[in-house]
Amino acid sequence: MARFVVVSNRLPVTLRREGEGFTLKPSVGGLATALSSVIPKEEACWVGWPGLSSEELAGHETWLAENLRPLGCYPVCLSREELDTFYYGFSNRTLWPLCHYFLQYAVFDRTFWEGYRRVNEKYAEAVAELAEEEATIWVHDYQLFLLPGLLRKKLPRATIGFFLHIPFPSYEIFRVLPWRREILEGLLGADLIGFHTYDYARHFLSCLRRLMGYEHQFGLVLAEDRAVKVEVFPISIDYARFASAPEDPGVRENLSRIEEEVGGRRLILSVDRLDYTKGIPERLRAYEAFLERHPEFRERVVLILIGVPSRTEVEHYQELKREVEELVGRINGRFGTLSWTPVHYLARGLGFEELAALYYSSDVALVTPLRDGMNLIAKEYVATVPEDKGVLILSEMAGAAAELSEALLVNPFNQEDLVAALYEALRLPRDEKRVRNRRMKERLRRYDINRWTRDFISTLREVRHTQKTYTSSRLAGEERERILAAFARAESPILFLDYDGTLVGFSGRPEKVAPDEELRTLLGRLGAVSRVVLISGRDPDTLDRWFGDLPVDLVAEHGVFIREGGRWHSVREFDQDWKEVIRPLLELYTDRTPGSFVEEKSCSLVWHYRLAESELGSMRAYELKEALLDLVHPLGLMVLEGNKVLEVKPREINKGVAARHFLESGAYDFVLAMGDDWTDEYLFEALPPESFTVKIGYGLTRARYRVENFREARRLLEELWRRKS
Ligand code: G6P
Repeated sequence: MARFVVVSNRLPVTLRREGEGFTLKPSVGGLATALSSVIPKEEACWVGWPGLSSEELAGHETWLAENLRPLGCYPVCLSREELDTFYYGFSNRTLWPLCHYFLQYAVFDRTFWEGYRRVNEKYAEAVAELAEEEATIWVHDYQLFLLPGLLRKKLPRATIGFFLHIPFPSYEIFRVLPWRREILEGLLGADLIGFHTYDYARHFLSCLRRLMGYEHQFGLVLAEDRAVKVEVFPISIDYARFASAPEDPGVRENLSRIEEEVGGRRLILSVDRLDYTKGIPERLRAYEAFLERHPEFRERVVLILIGVPSRTEVEHYQELKREVEELVGRINGRFGTLSWTPVHYLARGLGFEELAALYYSSDVALVTPLRDGMNLIAKEYVATVPEDKGVLILSEMAGAAAELSEALLVNPFNQEDLVAALYEALRLPRDEKRVRNRRMKERLRRYDINRWTRDFISTLREVRHTQKTYTSSRLAGEERERILAAFARAESPILFLDYDGTLVGFSGRPEKVAPDEELRTLLGRLGAVSRVVLISGRDPDTLDRWFGDLPVDLVAEHGVFIREGGRWHSVREFDQDWKEVIRPLLELYTDRTPGSFVEEKSCSLVWHYRLAESELGSMRAYELKEALLDLVHPLGLMVLEGNKVLEVKPREINKGVAARHFLESGAYDFVLAMGDDWTDEYLFEALPPESFTVKIGYGLTRARYRVENFREARRLLEELWRRKS
């Protein structure tokens, strides 16, 4: 059984048909190599697709599995049909264009989606067969969005990390996807979700809030049953390998060949998979415009264009291939001479030696994707090229631009920008290049792929630790039994129960959540065996209407009014003049935040935003709180932050003060308090240390225990009653 499992769509191997059999070559460099420096080889294994369909592999499966095992690899074999829906379909024709802002190319097809789900399930089965129960599992990329969720079900105790290698689009794009919720739920199976840049993380958090209603604090998402960490890890390269490439004999050999070939001309390099997100036609057109505008550079520059074939079965990739070929033909036909070819086009992948030699020899690298998760070509180029020689022209739309700000940054959609950057790059003084490259090289040297890998894995381990502080007090087993037994023994117990969010669920309109019969019966029974205080922020009339006939005491408006032994009294008279100062501000925010509204209580003003669009609501609440803080202090008021509400009220009123009122007037040998939001924290804090305090749901709390939701809270109360009856 494996303690550490990496899962990605493809295994880090190249499998090729050769005659009757196959050849298998492990990939060098990148994540596969970096991992071996962090996780001992015997402990780690890698699960993924070997790269050919089951039909192509027919009869050779055993050979394959046997030859993969020594490399620590375990194949997930995919049939032609599975590849069509999962890989060519949903991954490459739905998610890829969507995440890269090519909405017009995105296909939403149910068959694709179903295939995607089935294949993710297949990966989950393969992992579950291999992994220990408490294994650490690291899932990679958009082909496996559902895998963390599926694995969480199969291996609840595993530590699961997910890293996305492509952009996470803004909410406005992501919301279009018919299966957006399923994707988010799938991801939330992970403990740690990593992105390349802050923007991608921000987009993801925004989608979680707006589509699922999940809030976050400092990148910690409070999802239904767990805290999930969202963090930024810009992926990097094997810096040392590229920086030392010029010493490699194989690279040297290629260097002299390139030199011979291009003579004294300046080299401009462009390397990409042939993908429409890479902006290759735009780049070629800009090069054409450059030659047109700056004839003095004709014959003096050469563009080497490497286009690595990719996803050739998808129509947009085929169109792109044709377009690139046409453009290359056009430029060469238009400007070429008998002794000069402006564009050298190679439609194939290059090995390390050829590639590194090209990086080393190129005066300019033209890396201008229209959208790119990170782009490692840019980083490899900077690592390899001599510091006083190369200039990187880099698209703002590549994740790498966040780190490589010393490059010449361009908007790839702006041809003028590209032409100007090319012109500048070819004329940049050596000193200037040196300054820019040194800084970038230093950054890449420090944060290389090894560091990235270690960083992700150690954060993943820390998250488990952080989660414990959120879940350690989960009320279950012995602890729960201890409370039940103490209650059964107690001669004079008292229960403080919050209402909204604690005894009933949360609803858009507060006036709606009236108690159901089941709850009223439960409270009636409890009231017969214990003192029960319903301690709420609601007004006395509502509480009276709902609970007036039950043997319970009531606290309204966080403690302004108390009903004991069937009679209401108010704690003391409060001055109301402050309301006229605060009200206009709350009304201003209500006008600016559709869906929000002001509620007036006898001693407080409440701004509710649970019906507002969630992102706007949170932002406005934050602003309003800031604005209120200056006002409330001199007026002797405070701002209470509840679940989607801000409440302004006199400082000396809170649930803690109210609870103390009860405790001081009687002798109790069992105290239990339950609540779900910040207003209940005053209650938890005010009670004697031996009290049992229970928070409903997640979030930071002073309570000793936690239950998941109001249903679990009711179950606990129900059992308390049973122990006494
Ligand atoms: C991107 C994706 C990778 C993918 C690579 C090559 O970088 O993030 O997951 O492996 O492209 O694409 P392919 O479809 O050939 O695997």
